[in-house]
Amino acid sequence: MTDQPETLSAAPGRVHLVGAGPGAADLLTLRALRLLQQADVVVYDRLVGPDVLELVPPQTETIFVGKMRDRHVLPQAGINQLLISLARAGKRVVRLKGGDPFIFGRGGEELEALAAAGVPFDVVPGITAALGCAAHAGVPLTHRDHAQTLVFVTGHTKDGEVELDWPALVRPHQTIVVYMGAKAVAGLCAKLVAHGLDPATPAALIENGSYPHQRTIAATVATLPGQVPDRRLLGPALIVIGKVVGLRARLAWLAERVEDGALAASRAG
Ligand SMILES: C[S@@+](CC[C@H](N)C(=O)[O-])C[C@H]1O[C@@H](n2cnc3c(N)ncnc32)[C@H](O)[C@@H]1O
Repeated sequence: MTDQPETLSAAPGRVHLVGAGPGAADLLTLRALRLLQQADVVVYDRLVGPDVLELVPPQTETIFVGKMRDRHVLPQAGINQLLISLARAGKRVVRLKGGDPFIFGRGGEELEALAAAGVPFDVVPGITAALGCAAHAGVPLTHRDHAQTLVFVTGHTKDGEVELDWPALVRPHQTIVVYMGAKAVAGLCAKLVAHGLDPATPAALIENGSYPHQRTIAATVATLPGQVPDRRLLGPALIVIGKVVGLRARLAWLAERVEDGALAASRAG
């Protein structure tokens, strides 16, 4: 049986892999909302926004399987098994993930496990953090004058080292978005400069993107690491590097949190 996506509704014995967006509840898709309202059980991650969870009906079972850095409440194999068992028990399962399930979200791994177990599934895209953060920070990720290429990379370290294709990343006219890169910001910026990126290239770290307490630290590749010591980061953060970040000076529109906790208009008007 094939589903018509426009009429997709929660089905018993099925897993709906759903993107929750970057945090703000009103960035959820209508399809995601419908499935959340019809689910028997919602299995969710740490980065799903609290306001999104408020949209789950109170009688619906919720299971937190959140992952902290290097520390899983439930290991990935356990999450896969849980989804399979719930679906086999005839539940309408929503597997809710922050952002988009297919962007650094292990959505593919979970679907492979479901496919191998013969459990039916479908996928609902979500607004990935890069899009949510860039929109709220006034940074157009592509621009005819500045960036014709956009790359998403992970700054997650292996043995303390970020392993990326540095020569490809320093090519001109592109924007680099680094997920999970805040802890490694110093090494990341140093490697880019060592491979030829102009140290004056604009760079920003966007924390808690799309939330009312979003904070953007705009600097250059040379100066960003000095402005974001680890201890000052309280929420999820993305790094955006490229000339488009400089447009923020004119395009920022959101009143953001500043150091002393007060709000300041990023741009007058
Ligand atoms: C495991 S990845 C999941 C990405 C997610 N699937 C997506 O599409 O956004 C987690 C990383 O996404 C980024 N992230 C997620 N939500 C964010 C937010 N609201 N603001 C800034 N960065 C965010 C951070 O870099 C965080 O470490």
